Amino acid sequence: MKTYYLKINPEQFESSQLMPAADILVSGGLVAFPTETVYGLGAVVDHETALQNIFQVKGRPGDNPLILHIWHHRQLSGIVETVDPRYQKLIDAFWPGPLTLIFPKKANISPTVTAGLPTVAVRMPSHPVARELLRLVDRPVAAPSANLSGRPSPTRGEHVREDLDGKIPMIIDAGPCQAGIESTVLLLAEKPYILRPGSVTREMVEEILQEPVEVVTSGEKVDRPQAPGMKYRHYAPEAPVTLVEGEELAVIAAINRMIEETGENVVVLAFSEHLDCYRNVTVLDLGPRESPWIAAARLYDLLRSCDQMKAGRIYVEGLEKTGVGTAVENRLFKAAGGNVIHVS
Ligand code: TXA
Ligand code: MG
Repeated sequence: MKTYYLKINPEQFESSQLMPAADILVSGGLVAFPTETVYGLGAVVDHETALQNIFQVKGRPGDNPLILHIWHHRQLSGIVETVDPRYQKLIDAFWPGPLTLIFPKKANISPTVTAGLPTVAVRMPSHPVARELLRLVDRPVAAPSANLSGRPSPTRGEHVREDLDGKIPMIIDAGPCQAGIESTVLLLAEKPYILRPGSVTREMVEEILQEPVEVVTSGEKVDRPQAPGMKYRHYAPEAPVTLVEGEELAVIAAINRMIEETGENVVVLAFSEHLDCYRNVTVLDLGPRESPWIAAARLYDLLRSCDQMKAGRIYVEGLEKTGVGTAVENRLFKAAGGNVIHVS
């Protein structure tokens, strides 16, 4: 299949430029499109073959459900049974934006979207290109991240091309995504749970709900509807990743010790302040230690560049687990396949 590559300037574009993409979606084709978090691989919700193609193209396990994307609040009533008043508060505060909410689903939503769960994930992206595309289509669009399953999510059009060129009819490239990590996924059971941390942080949700929110990413604590995606190794570059956490100087010393014991092609992901602390290895810049949102925006691009540099081994300085740092740490933990060293 020939993939058509559509370049869009997100700050200045005409709706008509997106018409071909909307046509493809409406007729059951797949389109990769930018959002404020990562690029998504979209299919309209009511086209069963298109939904199944998402799983096929990505190599995604069928038991990992998809998020529905909407542009208008009125679309929600076609997808979900009820909206808990606490959800309404979160919708008012964070939509459009990088927060996905899990609702009881309506019967008409295909089990292919929800992987057979009684619940459905919905979000309203804020990216102007995503919003305009969703407005033109005017049906919910199911979209996982537009990467091959297991690979780092795509935060640039080139990343999507690396993974999906020749496999889908169209990629819309609107440059780098602002947030760089996937949306926060939140479930309200008797208590609120964050199933996937993101740039809408626990602290931000607690302030709106005025109650404690638990971040559950391992799948142990929430016994009823879980995020099945939690069980897969994700976001991984080719080389093994070691995440090193602890006191700043101890982390640097530990990584330097490991560098001496390791063979060639070591890459270190370090904070800007520490770029000069490592000798004879490639050091990539996570941004300043105090600005985890910069690490979030860069993370997947850095992991993909490790592949391009044919890294043999990757060491990463750990982040503080507060604010957006929690989300970045979560993605690094998964990229490392749980290979984390604590030093002090
Ligand atoms: O930022 C994002 O959310 C991006 C962009 C494209 O919008 N999308 C994205 O989709 O990251 P995906 O498929 O890569 O991740 C969806 C996550 C998975 O962890 C999945 O398990 C969870 O959402 N999820 C979906 N439906 C769910 C449900 N009914 N209950 C619990 N978790 C659900
Ligand atoms: Mg994904």
